[in-house]
Amino acid sequence: MRLTRRRMLVPMLLGLGSLGLPARAQSPPERSAAELMDAVMWNREPIGGPFVLVDHTGRPRSEADFRGKLLLVYFGFTSCPDACPTDLQAIGLALDQLGAAGDAVQPLFITLDPERDTPQLLADYVPLFHPRLIGLSGDASSIRQAARAYKVYYAKVATADRSDYTVDHSGFIYLMDRAGHYLGFFPPGTSPDRMADVIRPLIDGAHGP
Ligand code: NI
Repeated sequence: MRLTRRRMLVPMLLGLGSLGLPARAQSPPERSAAELMDAVMWNREPIGGPFVLVDHTGRPRSEADFRGKLLLVYFGFTSCPDACPTDLQAIGLALDQLGAAGDAVQPLFITLDPERDTPQLLADYVPLFHPRLIGLSGDASSIRQAARAYKVYYAKVATADRSDYTVDHSGFIYLMDRAGHYLGFFPPGTSPDRMADVIRPLIDGAHGP
């Protein structure tokens, strides 16, 4: 971990998380968006790792449950107005294009807004995109751990009138191999065709990744 002790201590000393603070102050980003984007884009740091979350049926799930499948891992939140729905739809359409072979791929949607995105809410949301899309939620620290593993930037941001919040987040779509190792990412806005074209040879290569 590159987090310094000081960085960990400051939020504790300030007692953040208590009520009454503006939304942004409740969840200060640990690392900047640019730093995390740099880590992902130039492959500077390992991507992926253990997580324990709860799926949209209420069942506990860890990353080890998905060994043997190629994974498409996407982080977002259900009230995201455009980026999340667009990319989740692309994932769903790419899987449709792959047909039966697409069963080798497990798509995962991990919420960055666990306060609002309960498993029940995810159960209504994920089938809009693909029948096999699994929604994952959990407590704030479990979500934080998963986001850290994938070098995901996210931060709560208060809306202009401060009555509500939204979540700023990075939007890479991560592709993991059957052993849970990171293969690469699709940038936000990747078309379903492109995604299917990249994934297809990975499915066909029985001994490949
Ligand atoms: Ni989003």
